[in-house]
Amino acid sequence: MSRRRADNAENTAENRPVLRRDEDGLCLVWDGMVLRGDLSRKADRLQSGRLQQELLYRAAKFRHAEGPLMAIDATAGLGEDSLILAAAGYNVTLLEHNPVIADLLEDALQRAAADPALSEIAGRMHLVRADSIAFMSEYEGPSPDLIYLDPMFPEKQKNSLTGKKLQMFQMLEIPCGNEEQLLQAALDLQPKRIVIKRPLKGPHLAGRKPSYAITGKTVRYDCIVL
Ligand SMILES: C[S@@+](CC[C@H](N)C(=O)[O-])C[C@H]1O[C@@H](n2cnc3c(N)ncnc32)[C@H](O)[C@@H]1O
Repeated sequence: MSRRRADNAENTAENRPVLRRDEDGLCLVWDGMVLRGDLSRKADRLQSGRLQQELLYRAAKFRHAEGPLMAIDATAGLGEDSLILAAAGYNVTLLEHNPVIADLLEDALQRAAADPALSEIAGRMHLVRADSIAFMSEYEGPSPDLIYLDPMFPEKQKNSLTGKKLQMFQMLEIPCGNEEQLLQAALDLQPKRIVIKRPLKGPHLAGRKPSYAITGKTVRYDCIVL
């Protein structure tokens, strides 16, 4: 995601979010900030050697994988974490319920598909504009190998997002108030593994103790093996 101060006085004065298209694609301009999905910025992290060091890659990796793996990212946001999953070989269904974030994500995915460095990986990423609890409850396909959850934390707690990106998401998105239902909908699909991104010291999602966790300096990936 790229961010810069917007020198758009009209929007700053009105202090309301506006979706704009410029030479770099679609962006949301709000209160002097610009939010844009930008997967190309992550391309160098996907190179062999670096990808394997990504904590999410390690949390999502299966030692003996057979055939193409399938993942559901139930809280897709701007798709940066899904990009890691797709680079790890997953076919990823990205679920996003916020229409503005979904617009930004769709635009980011289209630009990634046109980027020679990302097109193959982007071809494994499929956006579905849906509430993931409803989607997973009605899902009738084969059990996914992996379900990934990264819901927003209540405002007073530390989030896995930081800085302006966090501010923009907090303005757009109500913190997750239904984490029990979200986790239960994921459990009901019986994936091989559920990976949950948390702030390093954050509580477990819905109080469910994971099978193990992979920890970094600021975030933690709780892994539930089923
Ligand atoms: C913290 S952000 C995820 C960031 C994402 N992991 C990334 O790499 O950009 C959480 C996102 O999940 C979405 N979300 C939360 N609950 C959802 C639900 N029940 N169904 C679909 N999307 C949901 C929010 O709209 C928000 O965009």
